[in-house]
Amino acid sequence: MTRISLRPAQTKDCERLLDLEDSIFGKHCNHIYFLKPLLEYGQSYILEGKHGEWMGYALIFHESHANSVHLLSFAVLPPFQGKGLGGQFYKALLDALRRDGVASLSLSVAPQNQRALALYRNPGLYSSLDEELRMDYYGPGENRILFRFTL
Ligand SMILES: CC(C)(COP(=O)(O)OP(=O)(O)OC[C@H]1O[C@@H](n2cnc3c(N)ncnc32)[C@H](O)[C@@H]1OP(=O)(O)O)[C@@H](O)C(=O)NCCC(=O)NCCS
Repeated sequence: MTRISLRPAQTKDCERLLDLEDSIFGKHCNHIYFLKPLLEYGQSYILEGKHGEWMGYALIFHESHANSVHLLSFAVLPPFQGKGLGGQFYKALLDALRRDGVASLSLSVAPQNQRALALYRNPGLYSSLDEELRMDYYGPGENRILFRFTL
């Protein structure tokens, strides 16, 4: 198991996160006008390795209902993908959110993203899980599965 830690993301991380969003998510990446305030007022995390090197990140904002958050972006950096780190990161993230008093989490994922689906559907991680397929959620052909988890 890789030694990892989570630290809160800060506005000084914005530029690097923008580059990563662009290289990992391409046309679906988050724009600076959204990312900057998200870092200022949201509850996002950077995943670091034992020497403080970046290994992933999670961008999160609070929903209007109390104690609920939305996971806007979740990624393991490309050199570290496919080695089990995503599962480790996701579990650590849920533990951190629980410690912060978060009771429920929503997110959307592309139906073809098998790795992400395997992570999110892991039954050991939640009290309950609802999912719904929304056709054309992000525009024509951009279907997404919407998840809501009770932590
Ligand atoms: C999605 C992502 C976070 C997963 O992290 P990862 O470190 O690459 O994934 P892991 O190696 O931990 O594997 C995750 C799960 O997918 C499974 N898996 C791996 N390849 C798979 C495949 N081709 N088909 C189905 N399942 C697969 C693994 O077995 C594992 O399941 P398990 O935890 O039950 O064993 C990472 O690949 C990523 O950042 N991708 C680009 C950004 C992205 O798509 N983010 C999610 C947006 S919702």
